[in-house]
Amino acid sequence: MSDQNPLVIFTPSGKRGHFPVGTPILTAARQLGVDLDSVCGGRGICSKCQIAPSYGDFPKHGVTVREGALSPWNEVEARYDRVRGLKEGRRLGCQAKVEGDIVVDVPPESQVHRQVIRKAASAKPIVMDPATRLVMIDVVEPDMHSPSGDLERVADALQAQWDIGPVTARLPVLKTLQPALRKGNWQISVAVHTPAGEDVSQILGVWPGFHEAGLYGLAIDLGSTTIAAHLCDLSDGRVLASSGLMNPQIRFGEDLMSRVSYVMMNPGGDAEMTAVVQHALNDLASEIADEAGIDPALIFEAVIVCNPVMHHLLLGIDPVELGQAPFALATSRSLTMDAVEIGLTGIAPTAQLYILPCIAGHVGADAAAVALAEEPNNSQDLALIVDVGTNAEILLGDTNGVLACSSPTGPAFEGAQISSGQRAAPGAIERIEIDPVTKEPRFRVIGSDVWSDDPGFAEATKDSGVTGICGSGIIEAVAEMRMAGLVDASGLVGSAEATGTARNEPTGRVHAYLIHDATDTGGPRITVTQGDIRAIQLAKSALYAGARLLMDKRGVDTVDRVVLAGAFGAHISPKHAMVLGMIPDVPLDKVTSAGNAAGHGARIALCNRAARTQIEEVVGQIHKVETAVEPRFQEHFINASAIPHATDPFPELAKIVTLPDVAFGASGAAPDDGSGRRRRRRRG
Ligand code: FES
Repeated sequence: MSDQNPLVIFTPSGKRGHFPVGTPILTAARQLGVDLDSVCGGRGICSKCQIAPSYGDFPKHGVTVREGALSPWNEVEARYDRVRGLKEGRRLGCQAKVEGDIVVDVPPESQVHRQVIRKAASAKPIVMDPATRLVMIDVVEPDMHSPSGDLERVADALQAQWDIGPVTARLPVLKTLQPALRKGNWQISVAVHTPAGEDVSQILGVWPGFHEAGLYGLAIDLGSTTIAAHLCDLSDGRVLASSGLMNPQIRFGEDLMSRVSYVMMNPGGDAEMTAVVQHALNDLASEIADEAGIDPALIFEAVIVCNPVMHHLLLGIDPVELGQAPFALATSRSLTMDAVEIGLTGIAPTAQLYILPCIAGHVGADAAAVALAEEPNNSQDLALIVDVGTNAEILLGDTNGVLACSSPTGPAFEGAQISSGQRAAPGAIERIEIDPVTKEPRFRVIGSDVWSDDPGFAEATKDSGVTGICGSGIIEAVAEMRMAGLVDASGLVGSAEATGTARNEPTGRVHAYLIHDATDTGGPRITVTQGDIRAIQLAKSALYAGARLLMDKRGVDTVDRVVLAGAFGAHISPKHAMVLGMIPDVPLDKVTSAGNAAGHGARIALCNRAARTQIEEVVGQIHKVETAVEPRFQEHFINASAIPHATDPFPELAKIVTLPDVAFGASGAAPDDGSGRRRRRRRG
């Protein structure tokens, strides 16, 4: 290449080179390794190759770009602009040719490895590099004199036009190949799946001509209670729809161990549970595709993250071994298979499924997904990441290493097993404050921003009503009761006499706090009962004890920061979580929410093949701690039962909250003289 040839400079990469007059910008980009997308291979059809040329003086680059540095707007671009519209200043990189020195910007949406920004503030963007991509090829027509199959000529075209190595195709693709080739006049679009680190690719689908409708993938977080999915566009990682439904296995048992017990007691119970969850996944796929307005047959990939029991039940593997020490998994490795093997029949028949590796018998692929999303292994400070659900997955680590465990919190944090508990839905109390003097509550329900003591509350909630308390609401309620002196450190609810409020009403031998009474209008009477507080104490003790156990193993008494993950973690108030003693004491601004980190991890693995290899390596290095067989777990659990804690100091909490030092007997009365006398002092 002569230096007399025009200079082409790409931004933002800064890559540059000299190219002969007449070279398409797309060709120059490919030769320089510039990240410029193309699906149609330069045919002017896909518009993925859009670039923005710049003109004028560029002292930084040592170049002046004159008008006419690119070939004039051509008929292909004019047609595209007429039909679809090209943004002002954009050209198609495959049509615009070099005529003089030129500076070319590749906008983010034209980059193959474009970054997808994630919602959580701390989250790193996802770099697009999906295992399945779409390419367009021209295939040589058959020739009697040199006989070869259509698939073989497709393979030759993929190699020659896209540098894609050996390919295979399953029967559903072979059945559509010949009609597609002939209908497309030997020009077809091909969905090619190339797993990370593999040489052989698989053709997952073919279409005549240019396939406009795109390729899609599902990132699924299969939880014990809910199944949540994101439908993503595999070309740019956009989430087109998110949807969820209840895990229908709940009817066999609320928590994991009760589902394992169901299998032990009922021969064939595992097959029943496998069938219902597979059915639910198909329902979810069809629902989410419908919501996004796409054909479910265009879903070519699915990534699933789940805990080990869900993992085995999804795959049709008997989970009985996971119910007893040594909690052996059938396999802890990641799995890649045809989605149809797990009964996912409502999507493309050739769709590929990837399941992240499990960390241990109690710490599943969901925790691996959290590790992928939050990267504790790359954290400079010591991070405690808790994914709060029916089972809490806990990770503690930094660049020196990561520990993991799971702890059976039960469904109380999700509003289940709570007398007025309900799922997070309009009408559920999600925020609550209790005045420490009057002991009167004010609250807000999901679906309205108006507090219950504001004048517009009745109007704002007239459709939803006030129906119950969701998980974050019950945490706030119990913590507020503790802060208002309605409940003592041991978790006992005081009587009306001892607390000075008639809202603390007797229920048998114990007491309950009345938050809202709508019985006049046929609504519910919403209270926090002694039983509710016990359920929350059990859940929070399990969570804290798990975290404490990991801290013991690490040899620390404090952590630098706490990350609350899980859909529910996003709604927990850090202050209230700390008053309850759910999480270790840290400055409040060091408690952050990561949203649905397991779901994000699944999305990362869906959009980036290298992330799969990365998490497989990281999981191999995570140190697993089995709470069920650790003697100190029980001790931690018992100490953590107090609110916030029987023995651990909470100095950071004490800086912001003064907890009344009340104590009630089993009858709810103050134990000393029954007068409700309370001493106030700061804890910690
Ligand atoms: Fe498809 Fe340019 S590469 S339009």
